[in-house]
Amino acid sequence: MTSPASASTTLAIVLAAGEGTRMKSAKPKVLHGIGGRSMLGHVLAGLGQAGVDSIAVVVGPNREDVAEEARKQVPEADVFVQVDRLGTAHAVLAARAALERGFDKVLVVFADTPLIRAETFTGLKDALDDGAGVVVLGFEPEDPTGYGRILLKDGKVAAIREHKDASDEERKVRLSNAGLMALNGRRALEILGKIGNSNAQGEYYLTDVVEIAPQLGLAAKVIVAPETEVMGVNDRVQLSNAESVLQNRLRTQAMRDGVTMQDPASTYLSFDTKFGRDVVIEPHVVFGPGVTLGDNVVIHAFSHLEGATLENNTSIGPFARLRPGAYMEETSRIGNFVEIKASRLGKGAKVNHLSYIGDASIGAGSNIGAGVITCNYDGFKKYKTIVGEGAFVGVNTALVAPVTVGNGAYIGTGSVITKDVEADALAVARARPFVKSGWAANFREKNKK
Ligand code: UD1
Ligand code: CA
Repeated sequence: MTSPASASTTLAIVLAAGEGTRMKSAKPKVLHGIGGRSMLGHVLAGLGQAGVDSIAVVVGPNREDVAEEARKQVPEADVFVQVDRLGTAHAVLAARAALERGFDKVLVVFADTPLIRAETFTGLKDALDDGAGVVVLGFEPEDPTGYGRILLKDGKVAAIREHKDASDEERKVRLSNAGLMALNGRRALEILGKIGNSNAQGEYYLTDVVEIAPQLGLAAKVIVAPETEVMGVNDRVQLSNAESVLQNRLRTQAMRDGVTMQDPASTYLSFDTKFGRDVVIEPHVVFGPGVTLGDNVVIHAFSHLEGATLENNTSIGPFARLRPGAYMEETSRIGNFVEIKASRLGKGAKVNHLSYIGDASIGAGSNIGAGVITCNYDGFKKYKTIVGEGAFVGVNTALVAPVTVGNGAYIGTGSVITKDVEADALAVARARPFVKSGWAANFREKNKK
């Protein structure tokens, strides 16, 4: 994570110990997700891109789930537990052992503020380079109610007043505190150690550092970010607002990169969706995590994709579902009401209507007829279906796995295939039809009153 450009070292402390009561959730707030990834995950990814040297995450007691999510994103992160929740400064000091290791710069970041861009993290720590003791991130919200106000005097930051502690006059100030800040790492413990708790909530406020630093001869500065980057998430309404900001960002980026979206507002992307050139996405499409699309892919309306790879010139839908492990080679095609899970479709293969293909491999150029189902599960285990190249599987066939259909084989419509079919063979597994002339007429005659 070390950024070669700067010789200075940076520690980021991510505060994720809040209780998040306003989410009304059994799940900790920072594990709620936007764009297919937890808020904590977004923050850690941004820090990774910003090139910090070390990351400490402060979690609440018994929050192994939060710690695990942190380590999933950053395996080498140090996790600290804040036992009593006595405020943001108290939370930072829960990571004292990391601070004591000695860094030039310390970034303090909130895990419930998931939309911050890496450049903003970088901007904050770079702003320390003129010798400032602390740089806070400010913004000018539409409605500053509830936020701490940044009070300036002679153009310098004089104080940050929490809404609850502010006078009517101070509440008129719009410049608000986004919460995160950069501290001079060589002086951070000294500054933090001077914070008390005489305020409306009896908490140790991190924001007091802007008054303490100047007393130690260190400047307190502010840099300003757009509201859409620093909006915090405290409840599910704000969570949905953050989701929509993120979706707009992802859609805009995708379109700028050469994707056509007929209706961006109904296209839902994931943080990691990857597109080739000249992809066309029709309305009402949802991308879960882990999707990669090649060039000239067409996603018809009402399709749902997750953990899938589509090579160049493939198309799916309308109403297609690709589940994790779906892999479509070039020019293969999936039509309406087809579900594919953990299966590979060879070049030019077609599954056009009403099928379930699970744990299977379909060879190049094979045609899978309408309503073909792979019976991959016996209630206990999953089994594989292998269809070779250039095979033709007739309409409404059940392929009972484990089973292999050889290259060029032909399966008659309505078959239940329970054993392997050799290459170039015809397999028909259904009752032979019989026709009795006149039977229906006789039957009616007999039953007449
Ligand atoms: C904080 C700021 C406020 C700012 C606002 C921006 C302080 C004192 N106030 O207020 O100026 O306008 O953010 O959204 O910093 N946390 C812990 N342990 C604690 C308390 C909090 O880990 O004991 C974590 C929370 O999980 C959260 C973050 O710190 O990620 C902020 O805490 P929160 O209580 O939400 O602060 P605000 O009241 O929103
Ligand atoms: Ca908050």
